[in-house]
Amino acid sequence: MAKTENALTNRLKRAASLMEAASFSEAAANYRKILNEAPENEEALYNLASAHAQIGKFGEAVKGFRAVISAQPDVAAAHAGLASALELYRISRFETMLALRPIMELRAPVDNYLAAMNSIPLLCSCYKSLAEILELEGRMFEADVARAAADLYAIDLPAAMLDLGATIARPGDLRGALERYRRSMDNTPDCWNMSEQEYLKSNLTFTEDKILTPDGLEVMMEWERPIMERSAEIVCHNRGDVLNVGFGMAIIDSAIQRCGVTSHTIIEAHPLVVERAKEWAKDKKEVTIIPSTWQAALKSLGPFDGVYFDTLIPPMIPFLEHAPNILKKNGVLSYFQYYVDLRNLMTMIRSNFSFGIEYHVFENISENTYYRLDEKNGDDLYTAPLFVFRKTE
Ligand SMILES: C[S@@+](CC[C@H](N)C(=O)[O-])C[C@H]1O[C@@H](n2cnc3c(N)ncnc32)[C@H](O)[C@@H]1O
Repeated sequence: MAKTENALTNRLKRAASLMEAASFSEAAANYRKILNEAPENEEALYNLASAHAQIGKFGEAVKGFRAVISAQPDVAAAHAGLASALELYRISRFETMLALRPIMELRAPVDNYLAAMNSIPLLCSCYKSLAEILELEGRMFEADVARAAADLYAIDLPAAMLDLGATIARPGDLRGALERYRRSMDNTPDCWNMSEQEYLKSNLTFTEDKILTPDGLEVMMEWERPIMERSAEIVCHNRGDVLNVGFGMAIIDSAIQRCGVTSHTIIEAHPLVVERAKEWAKDKKEVTIIPSTWQAALKSLGPFDGVYFDTLIPPMIPFLEHAPNILKKNGVLSYFQYYVDLRNLMTMIRSNFSFGIEYHVFENISENTYYRLDEKNGDDLYTAPLFVFRKTE
């Protein structure tokens, strides 16, 4: 088996070097032979079509590119599939007794979605080549259709598809989701390009309604209060032992205090924020401030009934991977997401947690900036998806 694969790889290499040397007829002959034995080989199908285009066999080239396209996962269908799978997780309001669905049911639609994403660069090239050939042949209408498809599968689509918010907001509408993603990127004034180490050494400015870095990047803003207050209720579902990672403006920690928990642990790494956290904790009972990064603190902590994570700065995935170790059975995890990142969800799919999405409705937020909120609901109000993960075993 390995021998046959090696032989195939060698033949593909040989054919590719003929393409590089612009010996297109010879390359085409080689690819044809390869396809006799491996009729679905993507690289051979694509390069044979390209070689045909180079030697003027346009009809063959068009047929070839179309064959490659039809062999790829259907991006639009994968997008629709994931959106409808996610819809099943919508909950109206999380309560401690509410049954959530096993998150691993999302594995198949997410895998399809990823396979579709991985096929995008190839699809993009096929459609571009098709558009060029069809134009040469004077088939303008078909060329326009191919160009529109190439534009749709433009190179930023994989990035857009990692932003699950677009999928949630535009279920089944790949074009609309892409548009929305592009719009929200344009509207996002900040680009967080600071490493965690740089951030932890930086001088912060604390105003009444914001924390800012020296470059004016927003670490935390007052307008996020409604998200924090509802998230506190979610992670304090049974008032037990609660962990919050990232003190910021103390919004969520003040809300956790109001929930009357048994114990309240806070991990905060920035020295200036730690000072404020210690000051804040002076008149509170059962509060432990851990002045450290979560990376350094986590191994010795837990288990908790509720965990909230909001450090703004990556990495986040290692924390999510570790989350099952610090939660009790039925413990609940939620996190703030700058945008709804598919990679976070993929990490959680590897756990056997149950999952729900509660939509927080903003009563008085006039515009959608910085945090890429979900689209407006039927009452013309912005909503933000809050993810709730519960450890089931
Ligand atoms: C967005 S703020 C949190 C806001 C908070 N949820 C609130 O309600 O005010 C992020 C916080 O995480 C802290 N932080 C960043 N990286 C961290 C790390 N690796 N470990 C612990 N805290 C970290 C930051 O210093 C900052 O205070």
